[in-house]
Amino acid sequence: MSSTLASAPVKISAATSADVIALAYANDGQDAFVLKSPGNLIKDIEKHFEINLLDELSFFSPKGKVGEIFEIPVSAKNSQTDRIYLTAIGDGATSSHRLAAAAVARKVRGKAVSVYTACAINKDDIKAHAISLTMGAYQWSLKSERPAGIPEFLVACDDKELIDAAQIVSKAIARARDLVHTPSNIKNPEWMASKAQEFAKSTGLKVKVLAGKELKEFGGLSAVGNSSPKPGPRFIEVTYTPKKMNKSAPALAHVVLVGKGITFDTGGVSLKRPYDLMIGMKSDMAGAAAVLATLTALEELQPLVRVTALMMCAENAISASAQRPSDVIQQYGGTTVEVIDTDAEGRLVLADGLAYADINLDPDYLVDIATLTGSATLSLGRQFAAMYTRDDALADVFIKAGTDSGDRVWRMPLVDDYKDALQSEIADLTHTAVKGGYSAGSVMAALFLERFSGNRRWLHLDIAGSGRSEVDAGENPKGGTGFGVRLLTQWIMTL
Ligand code: BES
Ligand code: ZN
Ligand code: ZN
Repeated sequence: MSSTLASAPVKISAATSADVIALAYANDGQDAFVLKSPGNLIKDIEKHFEINLLDELSFFSPKGKVGEIFEIPVSAKNSQTDRIYLTAIGDGATSSHRLAAAAVARKVRGKAVSVYTACAINKDDIKAHAISLTMGAYQWSLKSERPAGIPEFLVACDDKELIDAAQIVSKAIARARDLVHTPSNIKNPEWMASKAQEFAKSTGLKVKVLAGKELKEFGGLSAVGNSSPKPGPRFIEVTYTPKKMNKSAPALAHVVLVGKGITFDTGGVSLKRPYDLMIGMKSDMAGAAAVLATLTALEELQPLVRVTALMMCAENAISASAQRPSDVIQQYGGTTVEVIDTDAEGRLVLADGLAYADINLDPDYLVDIATLTGSATLSLGRQFAAMYTRDDALADVFIKAGTDSGDRVWRMPLVDDYKDALQSEIADLTHTAVKGGYSAGSVMAALFLERFSGNRRWLHLDIAGSGRSEVDAGENPKGGTGFGVRLLTQWIMTL
């Protein structure tokens, strides 16, 4: 369930019409705490409630740890407000604003309260704060008992467009999360296609779905997805074209995003071990969810660029029709691949998507995003995605988009010395390392994918760690994080 976000005037009258007023305090040097809010709000609030906020703060002996919140009961005539939250933003860095916003949101999650937040002053921080409010307040459940309500956030900001943009991104993140949270007995590749069609309805997004015999050339998607005969795999192509095509402008850049959409990953015949690892595998379509949700945001933001999302959707089931270790398959475009471990299914479906894009779509940028390897989590944990590209300029742009948006990426090397481990005696290549003993599972997967990217400006994001949270903390609920939506939207908006 996602909360609502709106801009509110930087005025005492707007603040006191909310149930809660959230204000920020920063640690500006040794133990000196300073209240930070736009305009004259601090002074006006102190006058209105006949209170001295710094005195109140010192009463609590704050440590100033980001997200630390003190709640002050207040009342005044002609005022709806009954609480003020004083929220620590630490050094005031944008990343601290995000954590502080998530902490405020968590305090009101599941409650029907209105919160006027005046916690940030500059535009980047306000936008980051706004999006993180909705991220922290997000809840998803199939419990029959529903939460009491959803909070409404009124962000003190006179720039309505800025908050509208934040609301669009917030909605898209919630959409991606909803898809990831949905259990795999409900979501299958056909369901993913129906969601794409539902989101595209009455918008300018176009959706094309291929299934059954139409997937003959998609050897990777078929080999993985035919393990689950009903309803079988789906290739879902979603296209965004800006409404205002400027005829005199140079041809628009074309971005193709390819997302891994494994609706459940048992590992196939190479069954996942230990079995507990399987529980999180309903999240193995987080890449496809991220690219679809990103397009819904772009449709509202209307950047002047063409974007195609390819959702490579299949279930990696274990059944009599499942592929076997030692099978040789033919990927889209003809490359033959010797299958070593059927649990490395993600790269097989992505390879079809990358080759399809290279052969048919003439992309200026080719970006894939996938919960691809446990190794990515081992090396970077859950706060950074592993990023691979040969293109230094593109890498820099993504690192910046990651820091600016909050979906952070870390550049990893495509180590040429390891390529020989993908040599097969009977096919063009193997899909996992058979020799060499290089380990580096995330690097090996990236080297495999690179073979299908043609000579495009290609970039690969391994979000195995960042796509799912195992704890309910900070911006993220336990489950799908929506990682990639902020990053891809930010990048495309600045293209
Ligand atoms: N979906 C998994 C990767 C994964 C693991 C995502 C943990 C999120 C959390 C992927 O399909 C997989 O099983 N990869 C294997 C590859 C190996 C068999 C070469 C892995 O990483 O162990
Ligand atoms: Zn797998
Ligand atoms: Zn997988």
